[in-house]
Order: sequence, then structure tokens, then C-alpha cells
Amino acid sequence: MEGSTSMKQQNGKVKTKNDFRYGNYRNYYFKRLGAGIDQPDLRIELMKQYSECFKDKQVLDIGFLGIDIDGNLIDAARKNLQRQKADFSLPENEILSLNKVIFRKANYILTDRSLIELEKPQYDVILCLSVTKWIHLNYGDDGIKFLFKRIFKQLKHNGVLVLESQPFNGYKKRSKLSLEILQNYKSIELKPEQFEAYLLSDEIGFADSWCMTDSEILKSSNLAKGFHRPLQVFVKR
Ligand SMILES: C[S@@+](CC[C@H](N)C(=O)[O-])C[C@H]1O[C@@H](n2cnc3c(N)ncnc32)[C@H](O)[C@@H]1O
Repeated sequence: MEGSTSMKQQNGKVKTKNDFRYGNYRNYYFKRLGAGIDQPDLRIELMKQYSECFKDKQVLDIGFLGIDIDGNLIDAARKNLQRQKADFSLPENEILSLNKVIFRKANYILTDRSLIELEKPQYDVILCLSVTKWIHLNYGDDGIKFLFKRIFKQLKHNGVLVLESQPFNGYKKRSKLSLEILQNYKSIELKPEQFEAYLLSDEIGFADSWCMTDSEILKSSNLAKGFHRPLQVFVKR
């Protein structure tokens, strides 16, 4: 089953469903924003309202900006950054901020899980937006627990995790991407609806949580159907 379904020709190579097994779609923002593709991303607009949380802070974004498991997306992000830096109309402070952005191809779920013991607090903010479903499907409950434990260890005192998780009912559609993913899907016990309680439990240790979005904001947004997901903030004390 793995890699058997051809999707489309890209750079002369046939792409298979399995090539997008991490949610590493090339046209993700067309899908996500639909007709509103020219409008700003609601999540960025919301985070701008809390700009004091980000200004002069160490921020890690798991999945696309920052680190991503897909090297092609990292190349695209680097090119985009170079284009922006070459825009002479940008104010100097924005260019200075862009100079601090680094992209790296990396799998956040380490093969050697014991290395988590070496993690030190280093970030003020970690963004984990629309990534949990892919980590859950590819690495099961063990993987999702590792994700949350590593995030907690990497956050400094008073650091925050901004989490946009996907609901479980959206997992099924992607569960047949490979036999391994199907097995992981079937064995899932820790459902996304339980993430909040899990993150606040002693097993992880976040002190409190709050939500940046409410259902009214989401309803009135330009987001395509299926992307009306809350942005939750978890604080480490
Ligand atoms: C659906 S996209 C979301 C992109 C972006 N975070 C956003 O919300 O606009 C999921 C991204 O997570 C990345 N990803 C999936 N598993 C990952 C992992 N284990 N480590 C790092 N990145 C991962 C994929 O390559 C993909 O770019």
C-alpha cells in the first residue's frame, strides 16, 4: 500500500501520497485560506495582538517556519526570506528581525528518544500549529507524548506553547497513507480532545492555559471549512 498512489508529476518525478505523509503539502495555504488566500493568516493577526510575547524573544516554530521535516519546504522558506530581505522598502528594524530568522530541516521527534534528557530550556515561545495530527499519525501516542515532553523541556520559565491541534475526526481521512500510519491510527488512545488535560497534568507540567480564539472570531474569519480550530496557549511556570 505504501507509496502506491501516484498523485502528480513534480519536477519530472511522480509524487505519491506517501510523499505528503507529514502534512508537508506544497499548496497548504491555498487549501487553508481558500478564496481568502490574499488575506492575512488569522493566526498571525491574533498573535500580533500579543506582540509583547514575541518581541525580542527566542521562538521555535515546529512545522514550516523554523524547523520542518521536509527539506524542500525549508529551501522554499529560505528563498522567501532572501526575497524579503532584498526588499529595500522594508524599514531597518524589520530587516534586522529577518536576519534573526533561521530555517533548519529537522525531525522534532528524535529517533533516539533518550536524548530528550539533554534538553535545556532555550525558547520563550514554541509554536506548534497544525502539526500534531501528522506527528500522531506517523509516531502514535508515544510520538505525541514525546512532542509535548520535548516542548516543555525546551521552554524557559514563563515560556509559552501556542498550540493549534487538529481534531480526531480529521485523522481518518489520512489514516490509509501507509500500513504503519493505519496501525498507529488504530492504536491511538490519547485523543486531541484530551491534549489540554494531558498538558496540564503532572506528566507534562504546564501551569495554566487559555485560548486566543473564540468561536465568533473563527466564524467571521476567511478560513476555509475544516480550519476553524482554536489557538490554545499553555504557560510554563
Ligand atoms: C499542515 S502543515 C502546517 C504548517 C504550518 N505550521 C502552519 O500551520 O501553517 C504541517 C507541517 O509540519 C511539518 N512536520 C510534520 N511532522 C514533523 C516533524 N516530525 N518534525 C518537524 N516538522 C514536521 C510538515 O512537514 C508540514 O510542513
